[in-house]
Amino acid sequence: MNVSQTTTSRAAVAAVAGDGLPPGPKLPRSIQSLCWAVAGPRFLDRCYARYGTIFTLDINPYVMAGPAAGHEPNKRVFLTDPESIRRVLTVSPPELGVATTNRFLEHLVGPTSILVLDEPEHLEQRKLLLPPFHGERVRRYEQVMRDVALAAVGDWPTNRSFPLLPRMQEITLDVIVQAVFGIRQPNEIARFRALLRRMLDAATGARYLASQTLAVLRSGKHGADLASSRPTRRLLAPVDAALHGEIARRRASGDFAERDDILSMLMQARREDGSPLSDGQLRDELITLLIAGHESTAIMLAWAFERVLRHPDMLDRLRAEARTGDTAYGDAVVKETLRLRPVLPILLRELTTPLSLGGYELPAGTWVAPCTYLVQRNPDVYPDPLAFRPERFLDSRTPTYAWTPFGGGVRRCAGAAFAQLEMRVVLQTVLTHCELRPSRAAGERVHRRFITHAPSRGGRVRVVRKLSSARGSAANGAVCD
Ligand code: HEM
Repeated sequence: MNVSQTTTSRAAVAAVAGDGLPPGPKLPRSIQSLCWAVAGPRFLDRCYARYGTIFTLDINPYVMAGPAAGHEPNKRVFLTDPESIRRVLTVSPPELGVATTNRFLEHLVGPTSILVLDEPEHLEQRKLLLPPFHGERVRRYEQVMRDVALAAVGDWPTNRSFPLLPRMQEITLDVIVQAVFGIRQPNEIARFRALLRRMLDAATGARYLASQTLAVLRSGKHGADLASSRPTRRLLAPVDAALHGEIARRRASGDFAERDDILSMLMQARREDGSPLSDGQLRDELITLLIAGHESTAIMLAWAFERVLRHPDMLDRLRAEARTGDTAYGDAVVKETLRLRPVLPILLRELTTPLSLGGYELPAGTWVAPCTYLVQRNPDVYPDPLAFRPERFLDSRTPTYAWTPFGGGVRRCAGAAFAQLEMRVVLQTVLTHCELRPSRAAGERVHRRFITHAPSRGGRVRVVRKLSSARGSAANGAVCD
């Protein structure tokens, strides 16, 4: 459904639900949960068309975020206008709070991860984590990103269609492992990559999810409590051993003081009282960066290829720009992909005090979902919103609270500059070293994959031709002839 058919003030047409929350579908929870599970993006489009800029969905939290989310409320208020989203993301935590809603990740990332800390601990941790991710600093990883992408293309099959998503996961995992640990030895990179891949695949696999569900049903535990369950301990043990081993090795050698990789910088960082991060805190931040730093970027890259390969004029322009060393058009392609196909369709916050949003007085305890997927298709902000048109980011500034693929405010993605650089560099490197075609002319559908939106066929492509540089030997600025 085309959201541009809607108006932005339709909330007023429906009566307020009995509990004082904005209106939403009257379907039973089981049916709404099914709609979310099998047709998430289409369900959102329909709700927006029917109820307007603010609406309430009643969805089983298990369906939204898996067994670890069991303590969450069923009802969530979806926000799709930039002003309500701005209010929620910029609200000042102590006086008018928004508590963290990432608890469903805690059994994996640990209790001191930036993702699950509330204020003021969150802000203190964020100050330590941000320095390695500033724009200037992340540019140091550009060469690593280019090298990893070029090496990867060398392994891709020719004249056979394959999904790009797993290939992008390999690239982004290698990049983040090298950036975090500063290691260049191929066997060490391969060791970390294999451990993490195994853990991540298992964590989203049917077997682990079933064992977690049983643990929830048997014990009534949720979220962080699942960290102590046997399947979770077995899942994390090899990765934890490797991370603690690396931290111990650096402490023993003392070489972290001279290194500038992310782990070494975190080991050098000091809080305001002068204390360093403990080994447990370092472990939690490392695993957070490794998880947060690769999957979303891989899905976004698959989307970027899925979109540009269906626009030959954009391909030509990207290749031409890569030859000159300019970046403006590549950056605009990245931003437009993040606008039209955001990997994380919603953000989530819990109101800790009442808040007036979109004409409704929402009580404390309400969970609100600033909806990136819908606000970025808002025709009032983006003319012809469903068209893939990177030029819109060349001609005008990025609208702050109507472009929220990285969230906003005090919890905005720490890796936003890193991710956008990586997307542009990988896109340009691949496109200038091989000729790709989409396996079908028709674009891929937006498909809900756990908490993300990914291309329905994983971004299937066929390599038509590679340059010799992409068949093994290193390339120095060579491009497709
Ligand atoms: C295209 C790729 C990425 C997307 C779309 C993305 C998106 C997001 C979003 C929406 C949030 C905020 C969640 C919220 O407000 O609740 C977030 C937080 C975060 N992201 Fe990313 N991310 C990406 C890549 C990365 C990378 C590459 C890294 C690190 C290397 C990273 C590290 C983090 C961290 C540490 C946080 C927590 C920030 C805080 O709570 O203060 N992300 N990300």
